[in-house]
Amino acid sequence: MYDALRPLLFKLSPEGSHELALDLISAAGRLGLTGLGRQPGRLPVQVMGLEFPNPVGLAAGLDKNGTAIDGFAGLGFGFVEIGTVTPRPQPGNPKPRLFRLEQAEAIINRMGFNNAGVDALIERVRAARFKGVLGINIGKNADTPVERAVDDYLIGLDRVYAHASYITVNVSSPNTPGLRSLQFGDALKSLLESLRQRQEDLAVRHGRRVPIAIKIAPDMTDEEIVLTAQAIRDAGMDAIIATNTTLGREGVENLPYAAEAGGLSGAPVREKSTHVVRVLAGELGGRLPIIAAGGILSGEDAAEKIAAGASLVQLYSGFIYRGPALIREAVDAIAAARP
Ligand SMILES: Cc1cc2nc3c(=O)[nH]c(=O)nc-3n(C[C@H](O)[C@H](O)[C@H](O)COP(=O)(O)O)c2cc1C
Repeated sequence: MYDALRPLLFKLSPEGSHELALDLISAAGRLGLTGLGRQPGRLPVQVMGLEFPNPVGLAAGLDKNGTAIDGFAGLGFGFVEIGTVTPRPQPGNPKPRLFRLEQAEAIINRMGFNNAGVDALIERVRAARFKGVLGINIGKNADTPVERAVDDYLIGLDRVYAHASYITVNVSSPNTPGLRSLQFGDALKSLLESLRQRQEDLAVRHGRRVPIAIKIAPDMTDEEIVLTAQAIRDAGMDAIIATNTTLGREGVENLPYAAEAGGLSGAPVREKSTHVVRVLAGELGGRLPIIAAGGILSGEDAAEKIAAGASLVQLYSGFIYRGPALIREAVDAIAAARP
């Protein structure tokens, strides 16, 4: 069915088709229609102490406000990550800010955390029927100085804690100035220390420990990846998500829109993201789970991430180009590659 729908969606502006697709998935979820298609087989995995029915999830940014949780879950995703959400609502960057590079099966975006704020997101989560694994991805408002970023993350943590299966701390969007500096050195260590302390307090208060995953960028040297991994592990965090979009343009240099500012995702980021997963896995040696995202456009790509050391995968651009069939294809390929 997506084969018939895609040409129509791709005739609209990228952001117009994004909104329409989200409305359709949300409405179909409300009516229980998304669950009618062929579902992926069960492939249960335990990660971060949580039980996943299959290892293929929805990546952050597609459902920033949590308006279509039931719809996405019905399509067969093993887990759904919503957000990035910021403490206060904000409009994001001026449009146009989303571009399709169709020949490369890629997307460039500089959305800039457009979202309705954490209170609105929590209302949506409360209204959802979904009982599976829900990740909530938190960020900072654009007008919060980066030196005070920790305040925004702690507000996010406090507010979403009771509603999330796990919480992702996004320090890797390229579209919020200064954000990526939080991935390195003392800025990272002090952020992680604050998060860990607050996580302990919240665990006592709520009688439940909610795992925290840190989401990192693909644009790091191997040395930087290792240092970041060590800091995240030493701080007692629960997982690493690798990766966000890239600032690189390798492989798309001559295509329309390649010169647009923002993060590149889809097929051109695949190898870079897999490389980060491999370096992380080498350093962490299984002591901290890795959730892989970046350029998964086929079942084979998903299996490649697992072979590189990931325990779970997430889809964004591949879902735009391939539709819901990719979920089942990815689950099947991961199952087939199991020893
Ligand atoms: C339009 C768009 C918006 C995104 N917004 C977010 C976001 O709000 N938070 C986040 O952590 N990642 C965001 N991402 C990154 C994706 O979650 C994913 O990490 C990245 O696109 C790589 O996966 P892919 O190649 O399958 O798209 C966004 C990606 C796209 C294309």
